[in-house]
Amino acid sequence: MLLLENIHPDATALLSKAGYQVDTADRALGEDELVERLATVDVVGLRSNTHVTERAFEAAPHLLAVGAFCIGTNQVDLAAASRRGVAVFNAPFSNTRSVVELVISEIIALQRGLTDKSRMMHEGKWDKSAKGSHEVRGRRLGIVGYGNIGSQLSVLAEALGMSVWFYDTEDKLALGNARRCSSLEELLEAVDIVTLHVDGRPSNKGLFGEAELARMRQGSIFLNLSRGFVVDHAALRAHIESGHIAGAAVDVFPKEPKRKGEPFVSELQGLPNVILTPHVGGSTEEAQQDIGRFVAGKLHDYLSSGSTSMSVNLPNLVLPPNAGEFRVTHVHANVPGVLAAVNSLFATHGMNIESQYLGTRGDIGYVITDTPTDCPAEVLDALAEMPATIRLRAL
Ligand code: NAI
Repeated sequence: MLLLENIHPDATALLSKAGYQVDTADRALGEDELVERLATVDVVGLRSNTHVTERAFEAAPHLLAVGAFCIGTNQVDLAAASRRGVAVFNAPFSNTRSVVELVISEIIALQRGLTDKSRMMHEGKWDKSAKGSHEVRGRRLGIVGYGNIGSQLSVLAEALGMSVWFYDTEDKLALGNARRCSSLEELLEAVDIVTLHVDGRPSNKGLFGEAELARMRQGSIFLNLSRGFVVDHAALRAHIESGHIAGAAVDVFPKEPKRKGEPFVSELQGLPNVILTPHVGGSTEEAQQDIGRFVAGKLHDYLSSGSTSMSVNLPNLVLPPNAGEFRVTHVHANVPGVLAAVNSLFATHGMNIESQYLGTRGDIGYVITDTPTDCPAEVLDALAEMPATIRLRAL
């Protein structure tokens, strides 16, 4: 296994303990270097800066799985991975708690004017006043997007005594005492604090502009820790300058510097009571550690049992814990007759099937077959030669 980009040491520890030979590197690899290294590697782990392209997959005959030790998987050519039966895993939830904690801290900081107070103290000004400062207890919080982050925030905000309203385009279960709104407009008119946690689907571009800001209550607070392109920053600036919006916290921007040291420019710079952070909502050591544990666990499960639970490209097969002793895993083209052909091969060689799991996803099918005895070489050869076969493993 080759783990790149300084992946958390817990991942290496977990995989080494499970018996894998793990090489690590603290940086990303360019395509040429990656092509060279992948020639002998069964599993590669990376974060967002190593791109696994069609050419890289082509040069990796042994590659079984890719672990994206991060949230996004844009850096991996998923179609190329699927065509070769390579499973790709990521860590979609591991940093969600970190985002929620930052949101809570920012709501409190904004409700107490902490940024202004701290700045004045650094300038030598002592201004002890309660004016404009509020407890968060009893405040009305509006969560737009009630997914992994929005729903966790709902629970923690209620624990602080806030009243929670939420709006989601899907019909989501309301946790605790949270109130579901049937439209964004209804939410905006009801709450003192609006926080966005929608996903990055293209239709969310410009979701929050002049009309939505204008609907917010006088003196309310606005937060966006979801995606930069969701909000019109020029309109937000105008509403902050007019005093209609009392404060804001923004962690994501339409244009973000690619690397440390590149200049950052935003319409929101220079405004008092606006907290700007460099897309660090999910960036904590705990999240990194959990990403390491989570993805390493998925890779180990896939290699040892064939489980593709939560794979981002292969059909998701979640296996029961008492899986059989002999197992054949078969990734194939999703065309009619493959399962019948597989089972007929087992039958003609007198092999009983103890249990079988099948899943399909787009063009790809995946079948796992458990047998009471080891699969003879001629059956494996015949399976490998089937035209639909993409990847075969006997475990
Ligand atoms: P999720 O996919 O679990 O939840 C998103 C929710 O938003 C879903 O329930 C969906 O139905 C809803 N939704 C989508 N469009 C909507 C709309 N127009 N109106 C109302 N609801 C809508 O996503 P998760 O994990 O909760 O993440 C939320 C956002 O946070 C994502 O955009 C993600 O990229 C971002 N994020 C930011 C981080 C940071 O460092 N600032 C770290 C982690 C995630």
